[in-house]
Amino acid sequence: MTSPLRIALAGLGTVGSGVIELLNENSQMIADRAGRPIEVIAVSARDKNRDRGLDLSPYIWSDNALDLAAISDVDCVVEMIGGSEGVAVDLARNSLNNGKSFVTANKAMIAHHGMELAGLAESKSVSLKYEAAVAGGIPVIKGLREGASANRIERVYGILNGTCNYILSTMEQHGSDFEEVLKKAQELGYAEADPGFDIDGVDAAHKLAILAALCFGKSLDFGGVETAGIRSIMAADIGQAKSLGYRIRLLGMARIDDGKLFQRVNPYLVPEDHPLAHISGSTNAVVAEGNFSGRLMFQGAGAGDGPTASAVVADLVDIARGDSGAVFAMPAESMPSAERAESGNREGKSYIRFVVADKPGVLAEITAAMRDANVSIESLIQTQKTDDGSVLISMVTHNSLERDVAESLEKLSSSSNIQGSPMVMHLLSETD
Ligand code: NDP
Ligand code: HSE
Repeated sequence: MTSPLRIALAGLGTVGSGVIELLNENSQMIADRAGRPIEVIAVSARDKNRDRGLDLSPYIWSDNALDLAAISDVDCVVEMIGGSEGVAVDLARNSLNNGKSFVTANKAMIAHHGMELAGLAESKSVSLKYEAAVAGGIPVIKGLREGASANRIERVYGILNGTCNYILSTMEQHGSDFEEVLKKAQELGYAEADPGFDIDGVDAAHKLAILAALCFGKSLDFGGVETAGIRSIMAADIGQAKSLGYRIRLLGMARIDDGKLFQRVNPYLVPEDHPLAHISGSTNAVVAEGNFSGRLMFQGAGAGDGPTASAVVADLVDIARGDSGAVFAMPAESMPSAERAESGNREGKSYIRFVVADKPGVLAEITAAMRDANVSIESLIQTQKTDDGSVLISMVTHNSLERDVAESLEKLSSSSNIQGSPMVMHLLSETD
């Protein structure tokens, strides 16, 4: 057997500790498959004395993660710290500049700096790998970068955030309270250090931008993802969706429209007979449509220590085997920027929910604004008198331009009868 792949690991939290446990437990099998052992030689985290349930005595300890990039006999640095800026990206730059391969689970960093880091890795002829950054344990990066590489991908979409899917499906199945389920997701290790990244759709947007770059060969454009999260979804929305034959899922969706890149993260009403409606808990699912492969669906655990460690170590096995090749399937310097597609041109049905004062004329005010913006209403339900005397009005529109729906809501934005912002969710259709 040839010399081991020597790694240095920064970050020993949920994922970093999982990586050490996996490498310890499956070491012989991994060495057989990789053709050589994978050995951790150095680690770094903030607090050396924290009890992690791991024996760290075999490893060099460093208080400063950046030291790991300078250890001469380290072949590959693994970053499991998180954050788009600061130590994570400094460590990536230093490691690649020093000719070391780099593995990360950090989607925020790849979404913000992926093009620069890919260019750097390619110029140094080392690997930059990020399987765990998208959809946890699912080998979706490998599947798209390698397995589907012969296809032109027409669109890619799916459930990209385990925390949100866990919250939505648990609220749906058990009628649980949002805050209570979020707390449980944090305890289970699914949520980001700042769970706002999960519930406001930012984490899913990071992952979607990475998938879009990989699938369409366009320069990664995180700033071009229209992003909304699940914070404003009420139990009543879940109930209404159910009565209409739908389930609410936070979806990321990217496609090329007339040569322009459309990217959006938004809660959708997914028809009950669609496979994504049946994805529960922290499971993720990514659908990609290739012009020769047809529809591919990747499904599995989207978060948590074991599944994420599995994806990280798979990257290490690839590096140990001598994997090379472009980070996003084609060389970073040959990926052009894409013009952004405007969502207003899109047509479909929308679910809109208002919280309104329970008094005469309010419904007429809403429907008049819809009429004036050329939005036709397919169904409408008024429900649930709340403690403060307000009521919920939920409606589904006929097929309408999103621009017209936005115009109708703009007309209503100054109404003193409507509380807060209306909740808008699109109904997923085959043409989305
Ligand atoms: P945790 O918060 O559990 O762990 C973060 C680790 O980083 C801790 O060990 C912490 O040290 C260490 N750390 C923080 N700051 C520094 C620093 N300046 N120098 C050295 N070490 C530092 O995060 P996760 O393990 O959950 O996430 C890690 C990465 O993996 C993130 O990018 C996340 O987005 C990504 N990810 C997470 C998934 C999950 O399910 N949790 C799934 C997929 C990706 P200490 O322990 O001493 O405080
Ligand atoms: N916080 C992320 C999620 C972790 O819930 O999906 C996996 O990337």
